[in-house]
Amino acid sequence: MSQIQRPGNFLLARIALSLTFTAACAALARAQTAPGVPTLEIQAGRIAGHVSPTLYGLMTEEINYSYEGGLYGELIRNRSFKANRTRPVYWSTVGNATISLDTNQPLNQALNVSLKLEAAPEGRTPAGIANGGYWGIPVKPDTTYHASFYSRAANGFAGHLSIALVSDDGDTTFASATVGPLSADWKEYEATLTTKRVEPSAGNRLVITTTSPGTVWFSQVSLFPPTFNNRPNGNRPDLMRILAGMHPKFLRFPGGNYLEGNSIASRFDWKKTVGPISQRPGHESPWGYWSTDGLGLLEFLEWCEDLRMQPVLAVYAGYSLNGQHISPGPDLEPYIQSALEEIEYVVGGPHTAWGARRVRDGHPAPFPLRYVEVGNEDEFDRSGSYNGRFKQFYNAIKEQYPRLQVIATTPVTSCTPDLIDEHYYLSAEAMEAGGHRYDNHPRTGPKVFVGEWAAHETSFPPWDRRSAALPPTPDMKAALGDAAWMTGLERNSDLIVMECYAPLLVNVNPGARQWRPDLIGYNALTCYGSPSYYAQAMFGAHHGDEILATQAENIPTRPWRRGGRRNGEGQSHRPRQQLDQLFFDATRDSHTGTIYLKIVNCLGTPQPVKVEIHGASVGSHGREVFLKAKSLDDTNSIDQPRNIVPVSQEVDGLGAEFTRTLPAYSISVLALKAESLQRSERRGK
Ligand code: AHR
Repeated sequence: MSQIQRPGNFLLARIALSLTFTAACAALARAQTAPGVPTLEIQAGRIAGHVSPTLYGLMTEEINYSYEGGLYGELIRNRSFKANRTRPVYWSTVGNATISLDTNQPLNQALNVSLKLEAAPEGRTPAGIANGGYWGIPVKPDTTYHASFYSRAANGFAGHLSIALVSDDGDTTFASATVGPLSADWKEYEATLTTKRVEPSAGNRLVITTTSPGTVWFSQVSLFPPTFNNRPNGNRPDLMRILAGMHPKFLRFPGGNYLEGNSIASRFDWKKTVGPISQRPGHESPWGYWSTDGLGLLEFLEWCEDLRMQPVLAVYAGYSLNGQHISPGPDLEPYIQSALEEIEYVVGGPHTAWGARRVRDGHPAPFPLRYVEVGNEDEFDRSGSYNGRFKQFYNAIKEQYPRLQVIATTPVTSCTPDLIDEHYYLSAEAMEAGGHRYDNHPRTGPKVFVGEWAAHETSFPPWDRRSAALPPTPDMKAALGDAAWMTGLERNSDLIVMECYAPLLVNVNPGARQWRPDLIGYNALTCYGSPSYYAQAMFGAHHGDEILATQAENIPTRPWRRGGRRNGEGQSHRPRQQLDQLFFDATRDSHTGTIYLKIVNCLGTPQPVKVEIHGASVGSHGREVFLKAKSLDDTNSIDQPRNIVPVSQEVDGLGAEFTRTLPAYSISVLALKAESLQRSERRGK
């Protein structure tokens, strides 16, 4: 298992955030366990607010090999030889050959190091280089791969190169092609490799060899499988499909810490991520590995386009994880200018400088853009400069793009942001305790974007070493905490404009992860959704546009004490509180009249509930989707991907009043066919 590492020292601030949350949640906790059958009342005639049309979305960054070795289709690891300054890591030799990094034969300024092969083939045994990809290269049946690389040869080399997909043991060549002859100048060579009817496998390598002795240099050695929508330089189809299953409405990118970088120099510098991939220098991600930036700004936007999501564009705001910051004022101006140009790249017409650049990069149409986030988690900037930095960005963005909504990453006093991005990484119980956090939140200030959050099975933080022993994706206990929390987000989505779980993706191979839990796991061949993924997918697929007022009686509770500092007997100093074990919310699709009732049963026993719907006539027939587990630690994995999946069934016996028994440890959505009797719009629960 990987060591969990965390960039920067965030621990104290993170604990402080949790403590504030504790105080707020303790105040909301129910006083005692209530007897009797829980009754959920829905006031179908009282619209408490409107469900934000952008509520459910995705948060993404380069972490856990999310793009390289994940969503980004590239199969060659360290394709540009920049992942390590001294050694050609992830590359090996074939036959009688030596390889080394060479800074004297660069392809260009961006790819300023190349791989030097000194080949001395013996007889008919070729010599060359091989790459095993990101924990394997997936070979699938009847599949066409596009291989390409730049190469040049030393004087005197007159040979060709063979490029082949070969099993690790060397016994099977799945497909091969020959390119050349090489010349003394850099030139790009391309080949198409098509497999036959073979068993899918991952223990394979891309092998480039020659039977001629001599010296050859390589740059940007690339291998792409078919991609989603056949986009050149595109994304892995199975991962795009599983993401589409969440019905996401937006994508928050490029981070997260990945936006900020460990230092200003290693921030996400968007201009270096656009244009031909051979002109992108790449950079060290704060999560400890190299990013080629093959998935750059335009690819993020095309990802949005492919899944019909709107971009939530985070712009670098002058603060990096090592504490470096740019003071507000003239020093910040170049960064503000860069952000404005980035926005222009996204939305500008062909007659604007950066819109024209996007056209040249292959995307004539501007992208829709409504939300721009300034920085990431700037509460960690202890200099206090965010107050001034945010205002300077806010004013500049609003002046040029008055219709854009500008998101602050922490509260500021210098001006009024349109939204504040709040992050919560807490135990499942703490997320349940937060199920009512927003019920009485003021509606007068900025709206809220819950831009990163996840329920954790444990109370220790995600970067804690103990996490290394746990599976990469969460179990049912966490999914229940997620769903309880989401009922609160949805019930308050007049205020909560957007929410997205984080992190989204994890390569499950040993050594690939820096953070857990993560929503979706994968290896070179397949992917799976965690129970938390399915909870998100269920919420994303079943909501209308109206929030209905609700109230409840007899909600079962259990005593719980929030973790934290412990006394001599190992007990938490915090007061005991009663934690709800049943969570729900109700929304309606105003076009069809369908009422969606979501109920989360955190108890390990089946739970009867009485439902009373006032102000609507409700048909006896409806549909139910539920996710359930036998025990809290039940989960999915790469080997058992469908252990816990939603089940959909038709149900009878519904109406304006009915009783149903919820399965133990379950998340249910009831779709009720209803017709309104009377309506009024007023906030109130
Ligand atoms: O989601 C993982 C990290 O958690 C993000 O990069 C950062 O914003 C947060 O602290």
